[in-house]
Amino acid sequence: MKTLLTGGAGYIGSHTAVAMIEAGHDVVVVDNYYNSSPEAIRRVEEITGKKIALYEADAADAEVMRKILHDEKPDCIIHFAGLKAVGESVAKPVEYYRNNIDTTLTLLECMREEGVTNFVFSSSATVYGEDNVPPFTEEMPKGVCTNPYGWTKWMQEQILRDATVANDELSVVLLRYFNPVGAHESGKIGEDPQGIPNNLMPYISQVAVGRRDHLTVFGDDYDTPDGTCRRDYIHVMDLAEGHVKAAEYAVSHKGTEVFNLGTGNPYSVLDMVNAFSKACGHQVKYEIGPRRAGDVQDSWANADKAKAVLGWEAQRGIDEICRDAWNWQSHNPQGYDK
Ligand code: NAD
Ligand code: UD1
Repeated sequence: MKTLLTGGAGYIGSHTAVAMIEAGHDVVVVDNYYNSSPEAIRRVEEITGKKIALYEADAADAEVMRKILHDEKPDCIIHFAGLKAVGESVAKPVEYYRNNIDTTLTLLECMREEGVTNFVFSSSATVYGEDNVPPFTEEMPKGVCTNPYGWTKWMQEQILRDATVANDELSVVLLRYFNPVGAHESGKIGEDPQGIPNNLMPYISQVAVGRRDHLTVFGDDYDTPDGTCRRDYIHVMDLAEGHVKAAEYAVSHKGTEVFNLGTGNPYSVLDMVNAFSKACGHQVKYEIGPRRAGDVQDSWANADKAKAVLGWEAQRGIDEICRDAWNWQSHNPQGYDK
């Protein structure tokens, strides 16, 4: 199978490229490097020993995407390209709606014109909103999103569902990721956020490597065993392998299917600090701060459907997550650029 990865130079896309190639599939990458660098793909080639067809292009540019689909004739598209910083989406909602929704609409139009019928979409557990109680199951009502980023995911899911209702040939798999973390076991690729990280794991990694002084834990007065929020942290290679199963499923089915990709196991912020401290061999310094606006106390998956239908379940736990994140960070203290 030939799979086209939009946003394939990004964090999850680059790891998925490795997993797809290791499963025997061909990969084509389209990225505009808004939040990534071609170096990630060079390293995917190093890990896999395979040359990847790489296009620097905007996935919202219909003319360019039509030509790429025409020339490459992929069996399936995995659509990672998008803007993903929750706080930034509050400050720049128009840019978020424009980029995230335009890319999906453009791809659907070009797929129709070029006869591509299989699509896998990067959605997020954020669509469950604040009112559902974990573990989240796929059929729970989508909640009220707390930020424009979340709404773009919710809206893209709806657009894709409507498109499959109108076109019997179309197959769409919506993947709701929980908290992707960690890095490829080689330490050659990993998460490389621009500026100050918003997310927990890259922040912990940068404290551990000495780029930042300490982590601020956002609140220890939640109704949880240690007072800090709980999340479902999933190793990015488990997530990547989930995409292989999802793409294989997409090409052999029609209609829309939705799957949670999570482990089903919640861990607190302090659990993650402690596991990372063990992995890097020294205590990661932290201070307790106030709660962060918009945080939900608890979020974790019921991942039974992915196991039952896709035959997929996460294999790696928090010790592997922290080991691999540290391996990446300690060998690439400044990320890809340096
Ligand atoms: P990332 O920023 O590392 O990767 C996204 C890639 O898309 C980047 O390489 C960026 O340059 C590219 N891109 C953005 N707009 C583009 C456009 N118009 N045309 C071409 N390329 C474009 O992010 P990631 O963590 O790998 O996330 C991938 C997808 O998964 C995103 O859609 C994100 O919203 C979703 N997601 C991520 C998380 C997470 O925690 N990382 C959680 C849930 C969902
Ligand atoms: C956030 C987004 C989610 C998005 C995901 C990936 C919100 C409400 N959710 O998830 O939509 O898909 O990022 O981009 O923003 N924490 C600290 N200190 C820090 C950073 C985080 O204590 O410096 C805590 C948070 O309060 C939270 C946990 O760590 O309890 C995980 O935070 P984070 O990694 O940002 O992910 P989410 O908030 O779950």
